Amino acid sequence: MEYVKFFSNVADWAKPNPIRRLTALINRPGIISFAGGVPSPETFPYEQIAEISSRLVREKGAEVLQYGLTRGNPKLIEYLVNQMQKRGVQTKTEEIMLTSGSQQGLDLLARLLAEPGDVVLAELPSYIGGTFALNNSGGTLTGISMSEDGIDLDAIRSKVIKMRDLGCQVKLIYTIPNFQNPSGITLSLEKRKALLALASELDLLILEDDPYGELYFNTPPPPPIKSFDTEGRVIYLGSFSKVLTPGLRTAWIVAPSEIISKVELIKEATDLCSSMLDQAIVAECVRQDLIEGRISKLREFYQIRCQSMLSALEKFAPKGTSWTRPTGGLFIWVELASQIDTTELLSSAVEQGVAFIPGAPFYVNDAKTNSLRLAFSKETPERIAIGIEKLCKIF
Ligand SMILES: Cc1ncc(COP(=O)(O)O)c(C=O)c1O
Repeated sequence: MEYVKFFSNVADWAKPNPIRRLTALINRPGIISFAGGVPSPETFPYEQIAEISSRLVREKGAEVLQYGLTRGNPKLIEYLVNQMQKRGVQTKTEEIMLTSGSQQGLDLLARLLAEPGDVVLAELPSYIGGTFALNNSGGTLTGISMSEDGIDLDAIRSKVIKMRDLGCQVKLIYTIPNFQNPSGITLSLEKRKALLALASELDLLILEDDPYGELYFNTPPPPPIKSFDTEGRVIYLGSFSKVLTPGLRTAWIVAPSEIISKVELIKEATDLCSSMLDQAIVAECVRQDLIEGRISKLREFYQIRCQSMLSALEKFAPKGTSWTRPTGGLFIWVELASQIDTTELLSSAVEQGVAFIPGAPFYVNDAKTNSLRLAFSKETPERIAIGIEKLCKIF
């Protein structure tokens, strides 16, 4: 049977995630892995979640095992209004909706905002899940370079002017301002304000994806871009994945109510609602202070691992290597001498018992093949030091 004739354009646009293709290689037993960009399972509150979930099913089963509101658990939404206020964002319940992870939020927003012919600007490098979602809705991703303090604003201006001169519709900037995945870079305060002013001048929306902002080490990152937004130009995405557990698939979007209402319609046709049980567990975790009450431990946990990786790089990295020095999050970005292709190094690294993710797949264009992403979340500080020494020998 020939299926292609039945497929829509999406079948063409959707490409396999190159990181997933590496999974078998980088997940070999015993390997020291800097590959997986996931929170450490050591940080999950297993016992508390076991107790909460069994109690919820026994005592509130009729509610939590049922369908629910597409917008999500109202108690959790109320908590998020407060939470956003603490981050400097004044919002109200009708401007928030819950999604099954930020990944679903990105997909729903991509479907709402990007269609074939639309140009979407993304950082170089950027989060693959985000750029793939935007690509799958038909958007054309165009990369904007970054420096130590985030996305290059002059490059945005010249790119937008150039694309518009060519007759392209440029609508959207996708940015991860805090401890970016994959680079670890944080957008400076000045640039946040300037980016918003530029978006206003060029009439663009900003998609602000912020799953890592709470995972700072010593000082909080600058307030969200959304906190300076007086025009309703910024759509903010937050997530419980990195501060609680990604298995509960609970995240949120903050946007003007007109946008939220449209996203709600798209979500309704997608899954009717996110898991009521997951949301109820998260709401109960919030009530028991399992997020804010544990967050300083979590920050310390990742800071120690990051520090171990930075010290080992300092000690062992060959001359000509550069790397970012994140102040939060889960990732360090490394660039080797320009002639080295990190994709070609991966199999030797795995043979030596260390895994990383080559940098090229994170670029929507102009890939730097000498780059790589190191996640410091999974391994102990001791194994990080051993792994980096081994890796640097291969470099
Ligand atoms: C930048 C970024 N955005 C969104 C996500 C998706 O997170 P979730 O769907 O678990 O909320 C991730 C996951 O790693 C991420 O790194």
